[in-house]
Amino acid sequence: MKPHRRILVTSALPYANGPIHLGYLLEAIQTDIWVRFQRLRGNECLYVCADDTHGTPIMLKAQAEGISPEQLIEQVNVEHRRDLADMLISLDNFGSTHSAENKVLCERLYIALREAGHIERRTIRQAYDAVANMFLPDRYVKGTCPNCATPGQYGDSCEACGATYTPADLKDPISVVSGTRPIERESEHYFFRLSKFDADLRSWITEGAVQESVARKLEEWFSQGLRDWDISRDAPYFGFEIPGAPGKYFYVWFDAPIGYLASFTQLCERIGVRFDDFFAAGASTELHHFIGKDILYFHTLFWPAVLQGAGLRRPTAVHAHGFVTINGQKMSKSRGTFITARRYLDSFSPEYLRYYFAAKLGPGIEDLDMNLEEFTARLNSDIVGKLVNIASRCAGFISKSSGGKLAASLADRDLFAAFTARAEQIGAAYESLDYAGAIREIMALADRANQYIDQRKPWMLAKNSENAAEVQAICTQGLNFFRTLMIYLSPVLPVMAAKSALFFGEAPWCWSTAGTPLLGTTIQPYEALASRLDMKAVAGLIEPAAAEIAAPVTAAPRAAAPGAVAPGAAAPAMISIEDFARIDLRVAKILSAELIPGADKLLKLRVDLGEQGERDLFAGIRAAYDPANLVGRLTVVVANLQPRKMRFGTSAGMVLAAGPGGKDIFLLSPDSGAAPGMRVK
Ligand code: 2FM
Ligand code: ZN
Repeated sequence: MKPHRRILVTSALPYANGPIHLGYLLEAIQTDIWVRFQRLRGNECLYVCADDTHGTPIMLKAQAEGISPEQLIEQVNVEHRRDLADMLISLDNFGSTHSAENKVLCERLYIALREAGHIERRTIRQAYDAVANMFLPDRYVKGTCPNCATPGQYGDSCEACGATYTPADLKDPISVVSGTRPIERESEHYFFRLSKFDADLRSWITEGAVQESVARKLEEWFSQGLRDWDISRDAPYFGFEIPGAPGKYFYVWFDAPIGYLASFTQLCERIGVRFDDFFAAGASTELHHFIGKDILYFHTLFWPAVLQGAGLRRPTAVHAHGFVTINGQKMSKSRGTFITARRYLDSFSPEYLRYYFAAKLGPGIEDLDMNLEEFTARLNSDIVGKLVNIASRCAGFISKSSGGKLAASLADRDLFAAFTARAEQIGAAYESLDYAGAIREIMALADRANQYIDQRKPWMLAKNSENAAEVQAICTQGLNFFRTLMIYLSPVLPVMAAKSALFFGEAPWCWSTAGTPLLGTTIQPYEALASRLDMKAVAGLIEPAAAEIAAPVTAAPRAAAPGAVAPGAAAPAMISIEDFARIDLRVAKILSAELIPGADKLLKLRVDLGEQGERDLFAGIRAAYDPANLVGRLTVVVANLQPRKMRFGTSAGMVLAAGPGGKDIFLLSPDSGAAPGMRVK
């Protein structure tokens, strides 16, 4: 038995100016699965989060809505709590950075840093809006990029060329708040002397606090030299005033991570845990932060240095993940792919999303694409077709043939042992955040369980009452497979697992429950645990293109983290093997090819993709091919391209061809041995 661990876990604090969306849910779900896994293993695992409530965007948004920032953050807090609870995120406390506890802690940490000589005052020049009477954060100044001359760029970086700069470098700058040209003004600011922590941070990283790819990124930042960090902002600002500095406020990024501590303080009060057990320097407990890769700088440099500088412990680990894309593209309000948690929850089970994300989440920081067709297919195949199928096929026979009683012994102990033998492997995958690996293992076992039942066909045997004992034996074995799999999956599917434990008449499971079969007891009547997803309903997650939701000026232009890639920066020329693997290339047979009246470059093709069915697509190959010569021919199609509405109809894929265009275009053709629907590798 491993020693009992004491672990405190956080997810990044969502901004209190907008709804929880699928991007944030990836993080909450990743964290929650890890937390539930730790608890299942018998560790003490506390999980806290809070709303990130301060800063200029929230102040201006409240102003625009004619309410106070306090009212705004209160409303959002209610929604965030509800969304996270409905997603089965098992938080022990969800607080707010605008809390009395956070104010006290911010002051405490700041004073500790100041006393230790880590704070320095410096006068800086900054963009100032003389009409709105406020200093402007970089993202509230827009103008023409000094590097590539693209107009309408933010004051910190260019979305067209990726250059980074300061607002003073922009050509024709204007304030996003009043629309007037900003002036420059001097102001005294408070800096945290990050540069002094270089050696300590480097050694913290060698203790395994971050993933390898993150360590490499940090190397780059170290080699550029760590710059001191401005932790103050001038009034008007929604936040906490800095002690001894009237009119100066803590920058939102200073008080936000301290919000982890504040939320934890509330939990300590409630359940009687000692704060110092988790935060005193040298504490032997664990502290894990889960974050998106865009806020690494804050969590792997500023934050551990602030904690250390204030005489507290540093995090055990910071776990970063990538972003969610929808059907291969960045989530976007204008494309209707900005899917909120509420929109998802209005129609679908939280466990379906949890399972899908888990099945695709590795330990790295690659982005995760939510392809809606794949989502539907995966859920229907894995959860309905494989997992639940085991229970639904066996339960009825146990009820009918044996009055609900499981057999007293296992028919195939070795096979059951093969299932329990995977526990360590699966546990190690969860522990190292390789959820995709855990799910692969579990689904391979589900396949074996289904094979076991298929080979023995209890439904045939059950026709003759003389076979009752054999049917009971097979189904007892099958249900024990199901039980083991559900225990392994319970961090991902907590409600299905809880219902399954009840079905078996058992108390909530722990990880080791899987090691012993359940025999000779009576099961409860089986109730369906999951139902099939309908692709049409899933497609409805994407809203019709929503030009009307064009982001209002105050809707959170968000400060780019130092070192973060500017959103929308020029696409890299190289793609990773993971990117390539996302392209579903398939052999297609052309069933028909037609000219389209009014389209002089296109042909309409109907193609057969084997098991994926038939579909129509448009190809710009009219100048090169006589439609009659194409019928019956094999070619290669991108099968998971998002359907595109065109003037002549919707194109559901793309054929691959080579050549400069016009007459000189050549369809790719696999050998005649290939069959429609085969994956091209
Ligand atoms: O990037 C964000 O969404 C921030 N609200 C995260 C803050 S996490 C922590 F530092 F508080
Ligand atoms: Zn540019």
